[in-house]
Amino acid sequence: MARVQRLLEELSNAYAPTGFEAPVREIFRREIVPLAHSVETDGLGSVVARQSQLDGVPKIMLAGHMDEVGLMVKYITLDGYVKFQTLGGWLDQSLINQRWVIATKNGHVHGLTGIKTPHVIPADARGKIFKREEMFIDVGATDKEDAEQRLGIQPGDPIAPDSKFQVLNDSPLYLGKAWDDRIGVAAMIEIFRSLKETTLRNALYGVATVQEEVGLRGAQTSSTLVSPDIGINLESGVAADYPGITQDEAQEKLGDGPGIFLHDASMLPNLKLRDFIVEVAKEESIPVQYEILSGYGEDGAQMQRSRSGIPAINISVPTRYLHSHNGVIHRSDFDNAIALVVAVIKRLDQSEVDRISKFD
Ligand code: CO
Repeated sequence: MARVQRLLEELSNAYAPTGFEAPVREIFRREIVPLAHSVETDGLGSVVARQSQLDGVPKIMLAGHMDEVGLMVKYITLDGYVKFQTLGGWLDQSLINQRWVIATKNGHVHGLTGIKTPHVIPADARGKIFKREEMFIDVGATDKEDAEQRLGIQPGDPIAPDSKFQVLNDSPLYLGKAWDDRIGVAAMIEIFRSLKETTLRNALYGVATVQEEVGLRGAQTSSTLVSPDIGINLESGVAADYPGITQDEAQEKLGDGPGIFLHDASMLPNLKLRDFIVEVAKEESIPVQYEILSGYGEDGAQMQRSRSGIPAINISVPTRYLHSHNGVIHRSDFDNAIALVVAVIKRLDQSEVDRISKFD
């Protein structure tokens, strides 16, 4: 229990925006190497771990992405403020007046997206939203040269949200950044740990992907490397259990179990795989819930379109406040997601995979 919480804390706190996944890659490798038969990296930096040595059995690919939404240094103004490019999908409101960490050649530099004081804003303009183009990061530099020379900031440096993990008031809720998708990365590690002593009738792959937030790029290249027969993506789901969000927008609730995605903008799940997973959840008395989103995209879509098309599905841990400095998850949803996927993997042998893959 404490070990898993520590792992979640470490993964949540790690600074690894899209394209700069190295800190999470290091954690994933450290954890997965003792649990895997082999570990390799694809050409974009996704880490591919294989559980067993078995050949001639169906390949089951799990995926979870290492990257988080962040920013990138675009240029430094003459008076030493950092202008940025966003990496992944941000609301302008979430960017303003936040703390950030810039990974520079000299190490971590702290800064904040400053906001104009209400004292100088006319009353009729106080409801207006600050646009990202107007924003900058204040790193306390005296001028451009100070930012470049003393702090080592240069164009292209990654900028990550700066916020720390905490247990929310002695509840089973965990507050932190980047649950999207460190929760999936952590789940893969724990699934491998659960299955370490199990002789599977399939070849299990755990793939920590890169660059999901800019268009599922790492899942595309790693799927090509693995060539899976079944794809199970592990992601953050969209919780809709707080004021202002409606059931029409999203349906998941914290604590009601892992989500099974029935629709998102990037894919529809394989129907037999969907029914199989729901059946396994029933047999194992694991609660599940459904999610139907009109937007959203996930790595399962790339697995699904690998080879000539394979059965794939997205399984989620419900998360509040995605793509911001602070998200909230429920520990039991994480544990139940692991239990469900472990039970599914144990049942996937050649005949089951053949049955699921075949269209009647
Ligand atoms: Co995600």
